[in-house]
Amino acid sequence: MFEDKQILLGVTGGIAAYKAVELLRLFKKAGASVNVIMTASAQKFVGKTTFEVLSENPVLSDLYFDTQSSVTHIDLATRADAAIIAPATANIIGKLAHGIADDALSTTLLAVTSPIMICPSMNTDMYQNIRVQRNLDILESDGVHILDPDSGVLACKTTGAGRLPEPWFIFDRVKAMLTKKDLKGKRILVSAGPTVEAIDPVRFISNHSSGKMGYAVAKAAENRGASVTLVSGPVSLDCPVGVEQIRVDSCDQMAGAMLDHLKEADIIIKVAAVADYRPVDPKTCKIKKKDNTKGLSIALTENPDILKIIGEKKTKSQFLVGFAAETDDLEKNALLKMKKKNLDMIAANLVGGADSGFKADTNKVKLFCRDGASVDLPLMDKDKVANALLDHILKNMR
Ligand code: CTP
Repeated sequence: MFEDKQILLGVTGGIAAYKAVELLRLFKKAGASVNVIMTASAQKFVGKTTFEVLSENPVLSDLYFDTQSSVTHIDLATRADAAIIAPATANIIGKLAHGIADDALSTTLLAVTSPIMICPSMNTDMYQNIRVQRNLDILESDGVHILDPDSGVLACKTTGAGRLPEPWFIFDRVKAMLTKKDLKGKRILVSAGPTVEAIDPVRFISNHSSGKMGYAVAKAAENRGASVTLVSGPVSLDCPVGVEQIRVDSCDQMAGAMLDHLKEADIIIKVAAVADYRPVDPKTCKIKKKDNTKGLSIALTENPDILKIIGEKKTKSQFLVGFAAETDDLEKNALLKMKKKNLDMIAANLVGGADSGFKADTNKVKLFCRDGASVDLPLMDKDKVANALLDHILKNMR
C-alpha cells in the first residue's frame, strides 16, 4: 500500500530520534517516498546526513537555507499522503495544537491536509502534565491521530509512560490509519491455526497449519476498521495489533470459544485447520515404549465440526465463510462443503505445494459464493488474499 505514497516524516528533539531512522527504513522498504523534516534540536541527537542518505531526499530543517525554492515546505505538505511526527516532543505538540509556525516542521505541518500521526515521547511527568494532555486533546479533536507512548524505563531513568513505540508498531499503525475503513462497525470472528489433540502429556495429533492465512485475515479486517476476535490454535505468530485474541489448543476448546462469541459476530471466517479426530482416551501419564511390541494403535473419535454447528446456528444477517484445504478435486469438494455446512462463501485452496497452502507466505484461492458465482484469485501474498476475501464478503453481504 505504500508504493506511490509520499510520507512526510517529522523528527523532533528527543532521545528516541534514533528510532525514526528505522521507521524511515520501513517506509522505504515498503516502497514509499519519504521526505524528512528535522527540528534544530533533533539534529543534536541524530545527524541530518543519516536521514538524507536513507531517504534519498534532502532533509528540510531550515526554511531559508535548505530549500530548493521559496515554497519547498508547501510542496512537501501538498504532496504528502500522510505526515508522521516521531518522536514528537511537548514543544511540537504545543505548537501544532495552537497553530504556531516558527520553524520548518511546524510551518509545514500547518499546510498538511492529509492524515497526521503524532507519536509523543518524553519524560512521564512531562507527558502527564495537564498542559501537554490538554494539547493532545485539542489535536485529537482536530482529527490528528495520537499514538499513545509505551511504558517502561525512560532515558531519564524513571519508569512510566513516555517511550516511543517500536518502529514496526508505528509503521503498522500508519498503515491502519491510511486504510479505508469500509468494515467500521462490523464485528468479525476469525479462527486460525491448527488444533492439537492430546495423546498423552507429551504427544499430540495435529497438522501443518501455520496460522498465517487466518492471522492475515484478522489483521486486514482490523486495519479496515472492524472489531476482530481471533480464536487461535497454537502458532508462533504475534497477535495482530488491535485484535482480541483467544488462544486454544483442542477442537473442543476452539468450539467453545467460537460459540461463546458467535452471537455478537456479523461475519464469521473459519480459516482454522481443525483436527477431524482426537484420541478416545488421552492418557494422563506418558505412554511408555514396551519391549517386544511391533506397533501401537490409538483409537480415535470424531471431533465436532465447528463450522457445521455454526452453519446450523447462524442467523440470516450473519455471513459465514469457510475454508477448504484440498489436495484434489478442489471445486467439487469445496461446493460440497459449502452446502453441507450452510456457508455463504467458501475459500478453496490446494495444499501441499510450495507457494500455496499451509506454511507458505502466498496463497492461491478460489472463492465460491452461495449464489453460484466464483472468483479465481491469482497467486498472491496472504495479506492480499485476505483483503480480496474481505472485498468479496462485503460485496456479497446483504
Ligand atoms: N472445520 C471445522 N471443524 C472441524 C473440521 C473443519 O470447523 N472439525 C472447518 C474448517 O475450519 C474449514 C472447513 O471446516 O473452514 C473445512 O475444513 P477442511 O479440513 O477442509 O474439511 P473437513 O470438513 O474437515 O473435511 P475433509 O477433512 O474430509 O476434507
